Amino acid sequence: MTDAAGGAEFTPRVFSGIQPSGNLHLGNYLGALKRFVEAQNNGIESIYCMVDLHAITVWQDPADLRNATRELAAGFIAAGLEPQKSILFNQSQVAEHTQLAWIFNCVARMGWMQRMTQWKDKAGKNQQNASLGLFAYPSLMAADILVYHATHVPVGEDQKQHLELTRDIAIKFNHDYGVEFFPITEPVIEGAATRVMSLRDGEKKMSKSDTSDASRINMTDDADTIARKIRKAKTDPDALPSEAKGLDDRPEARNLVNIYAALSEQSVAAVLHELGGKQFSGFKPMLADLAVAKLAPISSEMARLMQDKAEIDRILQDGAARARAIATPILDRTYDIVGMVR
Ligand code: TRP
Repeated sequence: MTDAAGGAEFTPRVFSGIQPSGNLHLGNYLGALKRFVEAQNNGIESIYCMVDLHAITVWQDPADLRNATRELAAGFIAAGLEPQKSILFNQSQVAEHTQLAWIFNCVARMGWMQRMTQWKDKAGKNQQNASLGLFAYPSLMAADILVYHATHVPVGEDQKQHLELTRDIAIKFNHDYGVEFFPITEPVIEGAATRVMSLRDGEKKMSKSDTSDASRINMTDDADTIARKIRKAKTDPDALPSEAKGLDDRPEARNLVNIYAALSEQSVAAVLHELGGKQFSGFKPMLADLAVAKLAPISSEMARLMQDKAEIDRILQDGAARARAIATPILDRTYDIVGMVR
């Protein structure tokens, strides 16, 4: 692979991170877990990291964090991720991430960080009281990616600016030290088709932090709860269109059709070809049945895996060791470039 800045060769490697800070929902499943599982057979080395160090940039109760980390690992495995094929681990266990992040703190400029919309959104008007970690968050994220020389990073649209910053850090590092050491990473942004929106507002992402539990389908919801949430999902009074462009100004209808398409592994066009003309009163029960059929086996497998925490911890330990084997030589070479005697 040729990088945009120079022409150095980098072996394709996928890296993505996901925060263990709350219950897994349908948006995490379709937007991340399912996508990652589908990618594991494409022959490209893939590293999936549960970013516990990012999670604590805002307060996390320790017991909840431990539980969320193991539950996310169980979610990955229940969704079909094979820990022998892909590398699955939690960020805090590979110290090279934070070591490289320090170097990047000295490369990134205050102005770059102050422009990050996620910082502005999350710190809000109370920046003086936000943690220093929240401000430095994107620098650690750049280190997560670049400590593996990852070339491709699948993320949601909301992470695009962080990936641009990652590229800026790599470019400035390479330039300042006169090397072609870090790759210029390509974002692989999920399309609108796989982005799952709130069931209450088709313009807002489905989120664990939405105050309304009815806005999301949690991976641990039982069949009745899933059916009720879909029945109550916001819609409009029209029937389903028979072509995708008929969803253009209908965000709630589009969201439900997208979810149906993703869960049934069909294109939106194929779904509408079959179901165009149907009223929501007929479509919603079909969607509810499909969601229950797809999610119930995953949530029961998650519950089963959570019975044996030692086994989950063992899998994560093994993942961390394999991640470290890649990260250590890259950090060592970084230290050499920067002038650290070792
Ligand atoms: N910031 C990402 C999010 O909130 C999570 C993340 C941390 C990440 N490090 C990463 C994603 C590295 C991709 C690559 O979704």
